[in-house]
Amino acid sequence: MARTHDIVILDDAANQGAFANDPYIKKNNTKSVLCAPLLYQDRLRGIIYMENNLTIGAFTRDRVQILEILAAQAAISLENATFYETLNNLNLSLNKEIDVRKRAEEALRSLNETLEQRVLERTVQLEKANESLKQADRLKDEFLSIITHELRSPLNAILGFASVLDDEVLGPLNDQQHASLSKLIKGADRLLLLINDLLDFAKIRAGRFTISPEETSYDSLVAEAVESMAPLAKAKKLSIDTEVRVPQKVIIDPRYITQVLVNLLSNSIKFTPPEGKIHIRAFVRGEDLVTEVQDTGIGIKSEDLSRLFSPFQQLEAGLAYKVGGTGLGLSISKGIVEAHGGTITADSPGPGKGSTFWFRIPLTSGRLRNP
Ligand SMILES: Nc1ncnc2c1ncn2[C@@H]1O[C@H](COP(=O)(O)OP(=O)(O)OP(=O)(O)O)[C@@H](O)[C@H]1O
Ligand SMILES: [Mg+2]
Repeated sequence: MARTHDIVILDDAANQGAFANDPYIKKNNTKSVLCAPLLYQDRLRGIIYMENNLTIGAFTRDRVQILEILAAQAAISLENATFYETLNNLNLSLNKEIDVRKRAEEALRSLNETLEQRVLERTVQLEKANESLKQADRLKDEFLSIITHELRSPLNAILGFASVLDDEVLGPLNDQQHASLSKLIKGADRLLLLINDLLDFAKIRAGRFTISPEETSYDSLVAEAVESMAPLAKAKKLSIDTEVRVPQKVIIDPRYITQVLVNLLSNSIKFTPPEGKIHIRAFVRGEDLVTEVQDTGIGIKSEDLSRLFSPFQQLEAGLAYKVGGTGLGLSISKGIVEAHGGTITADSPGPGKGSTFWFRIPLTSGRLRNP
């Protein structure tokens, strides 16, 4: 019946048919038997089994018809019950899932709160640390400013009296004394330059750096800067080409712009191997005065370009060529160019391929900045 889905009716099971020898039928002397499938959409959901041990042929056609209707109802009820159970189970697991999620959300929320709290605490700590760093920085700048200022007066006295001696105002000197004196003056001159650099640097840092722009012939200014560096270039067998196309006079601080030119030139001389070339070009582009110093030197790695203009930055590649220097030249140059309302930049195709430094100053800078 499970296979064929047909109703099986036995009128006298114990005495006739295939189940007469069935031990259960025999033992109970079962007479009428009815076995009907509970079908839902052609699937067997269960079986109704009925027996009657008193009457033969108890399951008449009418009764079977009623049973068939009941079987159909029972199958639907069974299906519904199963469905309900599945639904219930689904609901339960859904509730569990919601529970887990809620707990996770709660954990996340409290983690977030702790994190926010920590960020807040750290921010306060950082702000404090920052403030004391700024304070230390200010003190350092002030210290630098005072100390360099104080160093300058005795050094000027040394230089002054050395010159007086050298000029033989106080009496004649022999060659040996002259030679020693000129070494002393050279050393003191270098010291003065260094102190002046430090003083400018301190002023730039403190925002107290001022320029005194005046009408200047840029041609002559560049020529003088190149001339002052010529002996150094010559000593390294370096050629310096100059190309200045600035027709009109420009308003700049000649002393400080010379300092920028000298620094760029001295860098090119320092970091270019013998027999190399240095090219300096100046021209007007739009409203700007542009100056470019190009060399065939050791070049600069692209990742180093951005830190060149920070104070005390000396690149490793340059150390082999280094003869003194503090690493302040470019940062001071940047301060000077910016005080003129301009910008300074460096570029290099890579190590060993030379470098180009150029700075741009608005032609109106003098009038804008220092009326
Ligand atoms: N033309 C150049 N070619 C290759 N590297 C350069 C060039 N100019 C500057 N640099 C690199 O940039 C660094 C910083 O230059 P900067 O002029 O600020 O300092 P410095 O020349 O080392 O010392 P200072 O100018 O104080 O005497 C140099 O040490 C060098 O590593
Ligand atoms: Mg330098």
